Amino acid sequence: MKPFRLLHLLLLFIRLAVAQQIIDIWQTTWDSSNLFTHVPMSSPVNFVTPGPVANADVVVSDSVVFQQIDGIGASLTDSSALILSNLKNTNWNAYWSLLNHMFNTTYGANAAGFSYIRIPIGASDFSANLYSFDDVGGDTSFSSFNVNNAPSYLFAVLSDIMTINTRVKVHVLPWSPPGWMKDSDTMNGGNLLTQYYNIYPTYLLKAVQGFWNKGIPIYAISIQNEPQNTNPTYPTCTISSNVEAQLGNTLRSLLNSNGFGNVKIVAYDHNWDNAATYPEQVLQNAYNAFSGASFHCYAGSVSNQQAFYNAYPAKELYFTECSGTFGTDWWNDVKWYMDNIFIGSLQNWARTALMWNLALDGSGNPKLPGTNSCGAQGCRAVVTVNNDGTYVLNQEFWAMAQASKAIIPKDPGGPFGQRIGVTVNGAMSWALRVGAYVVNRANSADWKQYSLVVLNWNDNTAGAWNPQPVAATIEFRGQQASYTFPVGVTTLWWFAP
Ligand SMILES: *[C@@H]1O[C@H](CO)[C@@H](O)[C@H](O)[C@H]1NC(C)=O
Repeated sequence: MKPFRLLHLLLLFIRLAVAQQIIDIWQTTWDSSNLFTHVPMSSPVNFVTPGPVANADVVVSDSVVFQQIDGIGASLTDSSALILSNLKNTNWNAYWSLLNHMFNTTYGANAAGFSYIRIPIGASDFSANLYSFDDVGGDTSFSSFNVNNAPSYLFAVLSDIMTINTRVKVHVLPWSPPGWMKDSDTMNGGNLLTQYYNIYPTYLLKAVQGFWNKGIPIYAISIQNEPQNTNPTYPTCTISSNVEAQLGNTLRSLLNSNGFGNVKIVAYDHNWDNAATYPEQVLQNAYNAFSGASFHCYAGSVSNQQAFYNAYPAKELYFTECSGTFGTDWWNDVKWYMDNIFIGSLQNWARTALMWNLALDGSGNPKLPGTNSCGAQGCRAVVTVNNDGTYVLNQEFWAMAQASKAIIPKDPGGPFGQRIGVTVNGAMSWALRVGAYVVNRANSADWKQYSLVVLNWNDNTAGAWNPQPVAATIEFRGQQASYTFPVGVTTLWWFAP
């Protein structure tokens, strides 16, 4: 070969090697023809010298880096653990393949890589019975405190999840203090009695210690699930923002002096609608005790999170709970989840995006006897597990997986994604809802991963069903790629220095 031709080839090779390319695309389409499917590509989508912009022009601004993302996930309630534990007994292979599909974070694996689990301290509306970690009335020294009051299947399933995802973050929180500490004398409804304000935080410390002693490090603890929820049919407890601040201050000192200074304390854990009042009041009275606040979807709108962020920009936001109910439309749900939670809550500063029950049966059971949660329709979990050892991944799973894939580490032990700037311009900009993330590398010399999560919800014309793909351009550092998004959710990425 002539030296000239060799040099030419060499230069061509360097040019190709340096240009950014999209080679990985995971997709869920409105008609379920793709369900978190790794889309085969005959050739990569290259970033090239820009041509004309499309009617939907996605502009990625990687110089604008926002919050760290901790992970996508759900709650491992007692009921979820029981359902999964039963699956392990009836169909061992299905159980492990399901856990792998949900929690394996290996790059390129056909798995969502869920990385954040929320666990009730004591009973919730998804437990077999009412219990706390100390049900001996008046035991203010907590000599009868025992985390093993929680069912053994809870710890067994959690342990299995932790063998698949060793870095899963665990966030614990009570649905109620023990009944004997309350004016209702039961975990259902009522208020914490004043005389226990200084004692109850020790119960929460002991819960963190109890999990730790079982080999489960705690990432975060909330003071109370839904402190403004007064439902008397399951464990709830009304706690004012002043009292939550006081409990948080005391718990912070206890955690710090017992070697748990890294455990985050999170305020509120309730609906979007009061994001500008309750959690802000907590932070006013206990700024240093709390890492931030967490939010649920059942009232208000995701944009309410912005109010808390504006008031406390140095604090953290978590989106921690939303539940589907049976009988709703699959694709409408996927759209709503992406818009409001798996793109929307992250866009509004959340570091997590979690659904409620990880697993339940086809009627949304088992539930705490007598609870009215989710009404007659029943709560739909991330996965529905049937008695015969089969399971169905619900719309919640596909929406979560599309988001999770964009932010899980590229490298084993490597960092999770951070949100970066992105806008959509052009006449068709309304048709795409986009989140953008950078996943840094374990070795900073390696190229970073730049991920997009794109919802194309261009599915009707004047109210008549008419799903239309959207031909888009993607702008990145003065280069441009072109991709046509089908109606559905697409997660794709490329690498760059
Ligand atoms: C995770 O997935 C990868 C790739 O499929 C596989 O090699 C690995 O064994 C899985 N991890 C576990 C703990 O099962």
